Amino acid sequence: MRGNNHKQPLVIANWKMKLTASAALDLARKIKKASAKYRGAEVVVCPSFTELGAVADILDGSGAALGAQDCFWEEQGAFTGEVSPKQLAAYGVATVIVGHSERREHLRESGDMIHKKIRVLLSLGMRPVLCVGESFDERAEGQKEVSLAAQVHQALDGLWLTRAHELVVAYEPVWVIGSGQDIDPNEIEHTHQVIRQSLCDIFTPSVVDEHIKIIYGGSVDPENVGRYMAKPSVAGVLVGTASLDATRFSAVVAGALKS
Ligand code: 13P
Repeated sequence: MRGNNHKQPLVIANWKMKLTASAALDLARKIKKASAKYRGAEVVVCPSFTELGAVADILDGSGAALGAQDCFWEEQGAFTGEVSPKQLAAYGVATVIVGHSERREHLRESGDMIHKKIRVLLSLGMRPVLCVGESFDERAEGQKEVSLAAQVHQALDGLWLTRAHELVVAYEPVWVIGSGQDIDPNEIEHTHQVIRQSLCDIFTPSVVDEHIKIIYGGSVDPENVGRYMAKPSVAGVLVGTASLDATRFSAVVAGALKS
């Protein structure tokens, strides 16, 4: 199942809304410095929209690419406060996180909204990172698989992946995000296989293997990343808290490269 996915681990930093502008630029400078050691990994850094331009300038020519935490589902128009994928692309953004559980919860982002965002990103040749994950209650009630399959189908049913398309699905159990809690790597492997099955029901197994990476997110740190990345289905990691410190983030990248 590892296929081509693991030739180059994908490590995405999600800074969320956690940094002041000066802290974000300082962190970007430190990541640029460290990024010579990222060779062999694909590293993407996702700052807030307000810092995209400045971080783009800093990361230019480094071993880390620029990504975004969200986008709107139209390319242009009367949508006050929104940011279009084309505007992101102008900063060199190719990778965009979509449907993060914090947006699903706090902004009531629906399956339909997430679907439309993925559709427009793919049409522009950009790479969506679709986040899916179950809540603590869903897991306790044995509804994890049902919930994940529903999230995958709502986001992707009716879409086609052709030659140029790339998609990332990030499994982020909501109850692990920000908790500092380790999770059994076998549970990640099992859940990734459940997600993969849903993807194979929508696309074909060969399209899934060629065009889609499944990565893990939820309290990933330098200590647990090796255990997670050792699992065959884990093509990379989506990192929140540990991405806010350049030394810890670089250690996560190093751990991903080692496994
Ligand atoms: P933490 O690494 O802080 O758990 O955040 C994970 C996350 O939500 C990344 O998108």
